[in-house]
Amino acid sequence: MAHEFKELDPNAPTGAKVTNWFENRFPSAFAGYKQHMSEYYAPKNFNFWYIFGSLALLVLVIQIVTGIFLVMHYKPDAEKAFASVEYIMRDVPWGWLIRYMHSTGASAFFVVVYLHMFRGLLYGSYRKPRELVWIFGCAIFLALMAEAFMGYLLPWGQMSYWGAQVIVNLFAAVPFVGPDLALLIRGDYVVGDATLNRFFSFHVIAVPLVLLGLVVAHLLALHDVGSNNPDGVEIKAPSAPKDAEGNPLDGIPFHPYYTVHDIFGVGIFLFLFSAVVFFAPEFGGYFLEYNNFIPADPLKTPAHIAPVWYFTPFYSMLRAITTEMMYVLVACVALAAAFAVLKTKMAGLFKVVILGGALVAVAAMLLFDAKFWGVVVMGGAVVILFGLPWFDLSPVKSIRYRPSWHKYVYAVFVVNFLILGYLGVQAPSPIGERVSQVGTLFYFGFFLLMPWWSQLGTPKPVPDRVTFKPH
Ligand code: HEM
Repeated sequence: MAHEFKELDPNAPTGAKVTNWFENRFPSAFAGYKQHMSEYYAPKNFNFWYIFGSLALLVLVIQIVTGIFLVMHYKPDAEKAFASVEYIMRDVPWGWLIRYMHSTGASAFFVVVYLHMFRGLLYGSYRKPRELVWIFGCAIFLALMAEAFMGYLLPWGQMSYWGAQVIVNLFAAVPFVGPDLALLIRGDYVVGDATLNRFFSFHVIAVPLVLLGLVVAHLLALHDVGSNNPDGVEIKAPSAPKDAEGNPLDGIPFHPYYTVHDIFGVGIFLFLFSAVVFFAPEFGGYFLEYNNFIPADPLKTPAHIAPVWYFTPFYSMLRAITTEMMYVLVACVALAAAFAVLKTKMAGLFKVVILGGALVAVAAMLLFDAKFWGVVVMGGAVVILFGLPWFDLSPVKSIRYRPSWHKYVYAVFVVNFLILGYLGVQAPSPIGERVSQVGTLFYFGFFLLMPWWSQLGTPKPVPDRVTFKPH
């Protein structure tokens, strides 16, 4: 339907006339601004944890802008890539700053996103009606991992090369199609120029496009259902108190209230980010590994190959799956099947299906190499996050109103994740292997047993309105 032109008084201020000229020609931009900023009502009790979504957006912009400038001087060629990065660092004016912002930005992205995801866990933000917001988030996390992995190959240092070699070789462990799959990914029998070219193409255009699309979907879905908050109280529910215009009494317009609030968070973030960029860009070898300052040498394997810190919890889980560990996992599957058969009230046929499924799973677990199951466990550790909205059966959303001991379960989960991360950086050791095996079992147990433990204990009464103290 054609938009009706709005005429202003000829004496109206020039600013209003200019705005009106644009609004008459592009009304949907103005409607979008209202819907997502000035008239998007967000709960007024947001706390520190709610800053990380905006920070993730900021880091995304930093990565795209610095990436554009890096591509102007970087050469995606196995003969020239390492030298082109050194050229950026030494000869391109401000090149060192752009490169350090991009490499620090990669780690900052994961810091921010891990905290953002943990907030979701704390306040049950993935629960109805926000399941899709969470699912888009998990897909973003997967895309981010792919983006970081492929970006890491580009400087063509020793760690870039050997890290890619190790991870791509993992795909070769997939039964039947593995070797062909690894060949398809590499484009050669070893990581080489063809691999560098395809990773470059995915890193600079394919994955960023997917990432941007997913972020848009994430935010549109969030704004359709409205934000959760630290109390887990739905401020836009039909029964929630509203003003004469129908706006929630417990909400405030995103702009200007949360734009100002987030600018404060951005200030603190940029302070910390600059401290790292200017004073500790390698961050003790965690953000930029020392071995990566040595050009890739296909004939010299580094003594110890470890991925960058943000992948190490998952890498530990991969290394935890030894042949011995497979027997523990077989026992877990057998126990789970026995429990399901004894507990289910479904017909006998259903029990036969469970037992049959468990038998097939056990046979496959014994038949295929532990290395393959390591890959399945590592991938499964990310994929399992998608199921969270359906695992959590607690009657309340926010940790604030759950039985107090739930906090300890979450605390152990976090400590366990950090220990797995620490072990993934270390060289393999017998004790490290044992600890990471227990850690892997706990990680999966946390999610798979959630339908049971999340219902235990007595929740505290949830208030009707959000709790808010003006300061
Ligand atoms: C590029 C990465 C990401 C960006 C730019 C992003 C952006 C945002 C923004 C701006 C918000 C609203 C502000 C806030 O609640 O903090 C938000 C909310 C949310 N995000 Fe993300 N996000 C990203 C990744 C993720 C990931 C990886 C997950 C989970 C796996 C996730 C789950 C959520 C959830 C559940 C909410 C709703 C929170 C609530 O209302 O309590 N996001 N996101």
